[in-house]
Amino acid sequence: MARLLTRKRLIIALLVLAFALFLGWRFVRPMNIFVVTDNFALPVSTAQIPEPLKTLSAQECATCHQEIFDEWSTTIHSQAWTDPYYQVDLAFDGSQQICLNCHIPLDRQQENLVLGFRDQDRSDPILKPNPDFDSDLQKEGVTCTACHLREGKILGTYGGDDSLHPIRKLNSGNEICVGCHVVSGDQWDTFFRFPPCGTVAEITKGKGQSGEMTRAEVAQLGCVECHMPVVTRPIADGGQVRATRRHLWRGGHDPEMVKNGLEIDVKETAPPASGKRKFTLNITNTGAAHYLPTGTPDRHLVVSMRVLDGAGNVLEEETNTLKRTIMWRPFIIDLWDTRLPRGERRTYDIEFSTNGNHPPAILEAEVRYFLVDEKRRLRIGYDNKEATNYPVFKRRVNLTIPNDEKG
Ligand code: HEC
Ligand code: HEC
Ligand code: HEC
Ligand code: HEC
Ligand code: HEC
Repeated sequence: MARLLTRKRLIIALLVLAFALFLGWRFVRPMNIFVVTDNFALPVSTAQIPEPLKTLSAQECATCHQEIFDEWSTTIHSQAWTDPYYQVDLAFDGSQQICLNCHIPLDRQQENLVLGFRDQDRSDPILKPNPDFDSDLQKEGVTCTACHLREGKILGTYGGDDSLHPIRKLNSGNEICVGCHVVSGDQWDTFFRFPPCGTVAEITKGKGQSGEMTRAEVAQLGCVECHMPVVTRPIADGGQVRATRRHLWRGGHDPEMVKNGLEIDVKETAPPASGKRKFTLNITNTGAAHYLPTGTPDRHLVVSMRVLDGAGNVLEEETNTLKRTIMWRPFIIDLWDTRLPRGERRTYDIEFSTNGNHPPAILEAEVRYFLVDEKRRLRIGYDNKEATNYPVFKRRVNLTIPNDEKG
């Protein structure tokens, strides 16, 4: 009897230990936050270069497509490799090859060739030095051919015969975007509402990810309509004038783009009691089909309102964050998401007393966009030279002027 008991205890102790070790391992294991799907598992092959092109550099495309080149040069796509935040993050994450397939997707942009994978998840590639590696092309990040070159042809939506290089006609320009702006998060141990950087899934409300989407569904996503505004001009210098798309792709790095996605107002609302005043800030996503902010879970908005007295002392303060919060360890769980879905409005109030010793003088309201989470910035050691956040809305209301004297 006694022996049976000790054996039972031993088994329980071993199970508890195994579970503790399992959890401990979950805290230190390298993490795959996304599934490596076919659309970006391998770099883009440049085995066939379409005649008469010689290099794959944006500089060469510029000889006939100068305006598009000038636009592309101003975008984060052209800095997807040199971007200092990306470089620090890449090193922090152990410089995995998989990161390169979206940030420098052409095989020649990568120092190593990918011969295959050692594991089923395709997170452990078999690498060999790449004799065709081109370090200048690498610096071009998401360069023209990263989007436009497939199997020796240039992808385009016109499919005309006037070009000097072979063309393959696309049904929709969005087909190019979904190659990199979609990742899947479906793994047994991962509980995402939306995949990481879920821009596309936010538009389709979680339905359909790259492979599962039909061409018609991809054409409906609207990416190029909002991110590549139409302009009338020749496609190539000296060619026929027609509707083309500007290569601008503005997003979180552009305050004007973020402002254009939002409608924000502050107004006084009915006082909750005598001797009190109340102001309300409304913020609505009127301009983005996906959530606002979207993209990496780093991106967030901070809405703050403060009431100050005449000497500048803070009497009342309200701060709210619109952010996607994910628990990464021991399991990946989407905890909560206070960002703005398309068309959605959020309301924030501030109330304060008017008859204290320090009469309120000023109400300040501000909405700030953050590219990087400050805690994460410190953890990965990113010593930013450019600001990581900026205001998209600022308002000061003078509380001492009675309403009828304002005009
Ligand atoms: C991030 C992907 C991407 C990159 C990088 C890119 N393009 Fe495009 N490009 C597109 C898409 C998508 C379209 C089709 C837009 C549509 O018609 O819906 C397009 C269209 C074009 C067209 C056809 C005319 C037009 O405006 O519709 C030309 C020419 C062109 N690109 C040249 C270039 C050149 C040159 C570069 C580099 C300087 C470049 N592209 C970089 C995605 C890209
Ligand atoms: C020698 C000149 C020349 C060079 C170099 C050149 N193109 Fe073109 N490209 C053209 C011409 C001409 C057209 C057709 C213009 C028209 O239809 O009005 C064209 C059309 C295109 C289109 C539209 C295709 C369609 O039918 O939808 C794309 C996309 C494109 N080029 C991308 C590129 C890229 C990317 C590069 C660099 C790798 C490049 N081009 C280099 C001359 C050039
Ligand atoms: C080859 C992969 C690839 C393709 C294809 C691609 N992108 Fe991107 N895109 C990226 C990467 C990588 C970044 C981030 C670069 C960085 O910030 O370092 C990015 C950033 C962006 C941004 C953010 C700008 C900002 O300010 O942060 C926008 C908007 C965007 N892409 C839109 C598009 C659209 C629209 C398309 C389709 C026409 C597209 N992209 C196609 C890889 C791609
Ligand atoms: C109705 C217009 C609209 C449509 C459709 C749209 N976007 Fe956007 N997008 C915006 C606006 C406005 C912003 C700036 C505010 C923000 O960051 O959400 C933005 C921002 C972004 C960013 C910036 C994220 C970052 O990290 O800085 C990316 C990436 C992006 N969009 C990709 C896409 C892709 C890919 C599609 C198609 C699947 C798409 N967008 C469709 C309007 C749109
Ligand atoms: C499936 C394509 C893809 C892969 C793989 C990928 N990225 Fe990105 N990355 C993007 C896109 C698209 C954006 C910009 C839009 C967004 O925020 O979603 C981006 C943005 C970023 C940014 C923000 C840059 C900025 O300017 O604010 C960092 C940092 C980054 N990626 C690092 C990495 C690292 C490190 C890896 C490897 C662990 C990686 N990425 C793998 C597509 C990818």
